[in-house]
Amino acid sequence: MQWNTAAVEAVRNRKQFFKKLIHSKLREHKTMRLLNIASGPARDLKEIYDEINPERLQTTCVEMDANAIEYAKNLCGNYLLQIEFINQNIFKFSSNEKFDLIWSAGLFDYFNDKIFIQLTKRLRGYLNQNGEMVIGNFSRNNPHRTYMEIFGEWFLNHRNVDELLGLAIQAGVDKSKITVNEEPLGVNLFLRMNNQTA
Ligand SMILES: C[S@@+](CC[C@H](N)C(=O)[O-])C[C@H]1O[C@@H](n2cnc3c(N)ncnc32)[C@H](O)[C@@H]1O
Repeated sequence: MQWNTAAVEAVRNRKQFFKKLIHSKLREHKTMRLLNIASGPARDLKEIYDEINPERLQTTCVEMDANAIEYAKNLCGNYLLQIEFINQNIFKFSSNEKFDLIWSAGLFDYFNDKIFIQLTKRLRGYLNQNGEMVIGNFSRNNPHRTYMEIFGEWFLNHRNVDELLGLAIQAGVDKSKITVNEEPLGVNLFLRMNNQTA
């Protein structure tokens, strides 16, 4: 598989992971609030809303790029009562709301460890008591990394399971509440930090 094909495949698998996650959360919650950080084109959102009763999911998207928001608003045009798009840098974002799920894919692997930890710590403050934060990060097992860097000039902080666990612990999360999942290609890892108390 060529590196760019694999990257597309990895992004597709990331979307599948997201959709499965929402479906499984909706089996536990009648309704839920989602904070989607760096939502980009929001194709994942459009597809999940197509598959569920839209009224069960209220989403806030925070995205720095106004063009991405415009594109996403068009794509998700049927669901604008359920999706709020905030055009803002996540480092400036604040909210009085709490969320059941905070999701971010395609962002934290641009951050060094210090920023990763700081932002995780701060954003977890927006979780409901039983909420969960899930962060996608490219894995060190990504066989296409060299090609991505040489031909795509695409430089990311690839991380392994232990590194992600370590970052979550440094962000103040109890070890018992952390898991790391991966998608079928093993190219994307998902750091899951649960707030559940019991
Ligand atoms: C690779 S895309 C990921 C899109 C989507 N989450 C996905 O999984 O396909 C990264 C997105 O992060 C946005 N972004 C980058 N830095 C950001 C920041 N500091 N605050 C908010 N959005 C940011 C970019 O504009 C871009 O749309």
